[in-house]
Amino acid sequence: MRKILTVLIGLCSFCGMLAQTIQSPSKTIQLVFSLSAEGEPTYQMIYKGKTVVLPSKMGVSLKDTEDLTRNFSILNSATKTVNETWKPVLGEESTISNHYNELRLFLNQKATNTKLTIVFKVYDEGIAFRYEFPVDKEVNYFVISSEDTEFNMTGNHTAFWIPGDYDSQEYAYNKTKISEMDNSKLDLANGVGLQRIQSNYRVQSPLMMKSSDDLYVNIFEAAVVNYPVMHLDVDVNTYQFTSHLVPNALGDKAYLRTPSVSPWRTIMVSDDARDIVSSKMILNLNEPSKIEDTSWIKPMKYIGIWWEMHVGISTWDYAGSQNAQNAGTAVGQMIPSGKHGATTENAKRYIDFAAKHGFDGVLVEGWNIGWEDWYGKWKEDVFDFITPYPDFDIKAVANYAKSRGVKMIMHHETSGSVANYERHLDRAFELMQDYNYPAVKSGYVGKIIPRGEFHDGQTMVNHFNFVAQRAADYKIMVNSHESTRPTGYNRTYPNYIAAEAARGNEFNAWSNGNPPAHETILPFTRLLGGPMDYTPGIFEIKMNVYDANKTEQVHTTLAKQLALYVTLYSPLQMAADLPENYEKYLDAFQFIKDVPLDWQKSNYLEAEPGEYITVVRKDKNSENWFLGSITNEHARNTTLHLDFLSQGKKYKATIYQDAKDADWKDNPKSYEIITKTVTHKSTLKLKLAKGGGTAISFELIK
Ligand code: NOJ
Ligand code: CA
Repeated sequence: MRKILTVLIGLCSFCGMLAQTIQSPSKTIQLVFSLSAEGEPTYQMIYKGKTVVLPSKMGVSLKDTEDLTRNFSILNSATKTVNETWKPVLGEESTISNHYNELRLFLNQKATNTKLTIVFKVYDEGIAFRYEFPVDKEVNYFVISSEDTEFNMTGNHTAFWIPGDYDSQEYAYNKTKISEMDNSKLDLANGVGLQRIQSNYRVQSPLMMKSSDDLYVNIFEAAVVNYPVMHLDVDVNTYQFTSHLVPNALGDKAYLRTPSVSPWRTIMVSDDARDIVSSKMILNLNEPSKIEDTSWIKPMKYIGIWWEMHVGISTWDYAGSQNAQNAGTAVGQMIPSGKHGATTENAKRYIDFAAKHGFDGVLVEGWNIGWEDWYGKWKEDVFDFITPYPDFDIKAVANYAKSRGVKMIMHHETSGSVANYERHLDRAFELMQDYNYPAVKSGYVGKIIPRGEFHDGQTMVNHFNFVAQRAADYKIMVNSHESTRPTGYNRTYPNYIAAEAARGNEFNAWSNGNPPAHETILPFTRLLGGPMDYTPGIFEIKMNVYDANKTEQVHTTLAKQLALYVTLYSPLQMAADLPENYEKYLDAFQFIKDVPLDWQKSNYLEAEPGEYITVVRKDKNSENWFLGSITNEHARNTTLHLDFLSQGKKYKATIYQDAKDADWKDNPKSYEIITKTVTHKSTLKLKLAKGGGTAISFELIK
C-alpha cells in the first residue's frame, strides 16, 4: 500500500521552500503543500502535468486572538492510503469505492503556541482538505472571524454560477467568464429568492468551471457540520476565489471548541465532464451512517396537493387571507373561500389516484392553520404543526390512506420561524407517528426568525442537521426546502432523504422560470451534495391552460420531464402535475410509474454542463435499465451504444421521445412512444428537440 503513496520531499517549484507532494492513487493529480517564507500554509494542485490551482494560501482568522494564516512551522506530517468500499442505504450505486491518499500536516504557530492540523485527501477526481483544531489549543473556545482559503485559478475560465445570497440558492445559473462574475449586472427582476446579496463579487458553491483548454474544475465543500456555508469572493481581475463564510446576526462566522474540524474544501478536476457528475467524493468525505437500523428508510415516489396551489387553482390557506371580512378573525369563525386545496375530500381523491397507479405517498400542503399569517408577516408562532384546518380531518385521511396502502407525507412550512419550529418539533413528530406519516417535507420560506440569522449561517446549518437527527429518533425521513444546500450529510443521516436548495420546477409555474439549460447544470452543481426534490413530471406545460392570461410555462418538452426522473438522481421523486393531467396522457405517465428510485449502478454516457447529459441506471432490484437524456435550448442528435446491457440477453426498450415537430416553446407536448428489442450490441439514435429529452426503459425479456 505504502508503495502507491508517493510523498516526495523536495524543492518546491513555485516558492523555493521545502514542500511536500502527494499524488492521487492513479497519479493523475498532484497536491503540493508548502509554507511560504512567512510561514503561510500554501497548496497547489496539478492534473496530468497541468496546474489547476496556482499556489493558494490557507488558514483561518480567530476573533480577538490569533491569526491562523501565517508564522507556522511544520511539527510533523503523516501519510496514509485508504482503499475501501461501503454500501449506501439508497443511492446511484449499490457499492461506493473510497480510494485516496492522505497527507496530514501538524503545524505550530510558535509565538502563540497554537496548533493547527491541515489534512489533505487526494482522490483521482479531485482533492479535499480541512482544518482541524486540536485539543491542546490553549484557549479551547474560539470564534472564527474569517476563513482565508484561496482557490487561485489559472485563467479566465467559463463559470456556471449563482450570486452569493446568504438566504437562497433559488436562482437560474449564469454562464460567464470569471472576469464577468458581477452580481450588479444580473437581471433579478422576476422570481428570485431573498436577494441577500451583499457583495457584487460573491458567488455560491458548488461552482462549476471549464478552462479554455477543456479542463472541468469544480469548487465545493463536504460535511458542513457545526460551521457556516462557504460562499466564494471573486477577484475578477486575478481569477482568484477566497472562502467567505456566511455570518451570524453578530457578524461572527463560527463558534467552535477544540477539538473540532472545518468542513472539507473540495476541488474536482477532469478532462472528462462525466467524472465530475459521477464522483462520489462528497459522500465519501462524510461520516458513515449514525443510524444503525436503516430498514425504515425507503425510496418514495409521491404525488401531492401542491401544484394546484402553484398554478393558482387552489390555496394553502383556508379562508382567503386577503379577504377583508376575515381580518382579525379566528380561523374557526372565518368564512371559507371555497378555494382551499387541503380538504379531506381532495386528499382522498389524491390517495385514490396514488393507490390506482402504485405511488408510495401523498403530500398535503396547507392542511394546518397558520397560512393566513405566513411569509412576510414576521409572526413568530405562525404555525403549531399540529392543528388542522376545519375542513381537513387528519384522522379520517390517515385511516383512508392506510386502507388504500398509501403513505402520507407531512408538510411543515416554518415560514422561516425556526425557534418556533424547534419548540414544536417533538409534538409535531409525535403527531406524525400517531397518524403513520413516515416522511416530512419542511420549508423555510422567508427571512429567519430569530431575526438577523441567515439560512446559510452556522446556527441554521445546525438546525437543519438537528432536525434530521431528531427525525431519526422518530424513524422519520426528511425532505427540506429552502435549507442550506446539502454537502453529503445524507451519508451520515440517510433519513435526510432529499432537499430542494436550488431553483426547482415550481419557478416555472409563476416566474420567468428555469431556462432549458438549467437541468443540465444541476448535476454539476447542486446535485453533487445530495438528492434534490426538483418535482419533475409536468405534462400540462403552459400555464395558460389554467388562465388564458398567463404566459408562464415550463421550459421543456413533455418527454424531457420524463427523462428528468433519471438525470436528476433522487430516492424521493414527485410526480408533480395534477392527477387529471396525468389521466390525459396515461401512456407517457407509464414511465413515471415504472422508473425506480434506487440503483445498482449508474453510467454517465455523455455530459457537458449547460449543454446535455445522458445517463443509464440499473434498477437495484431487477435486471432492468433506465435511460435519461436531456438537452438545453438546442436540438440534439446522438448515437448511443447499448454495451452497458448484459451480454447474451434481450431487452424490450420502450422509448419515450420528442416527436419530430416537438419544441419546448411552440409544441412541447408532442411526443411518441416506440418499442424495440435490443441487445448489448445495439446502437440507438436519439433525437432530442429544442429543450427536449428522451426517456427509455430497458426491460429484460425472460
Ligand atoms: C416553497 C417550496 O419550495 C414549495 O414546494 C412549497 O409548496 C411552498 N414553499 C410552500 O411551503
Ligand atoms: Ca422553494
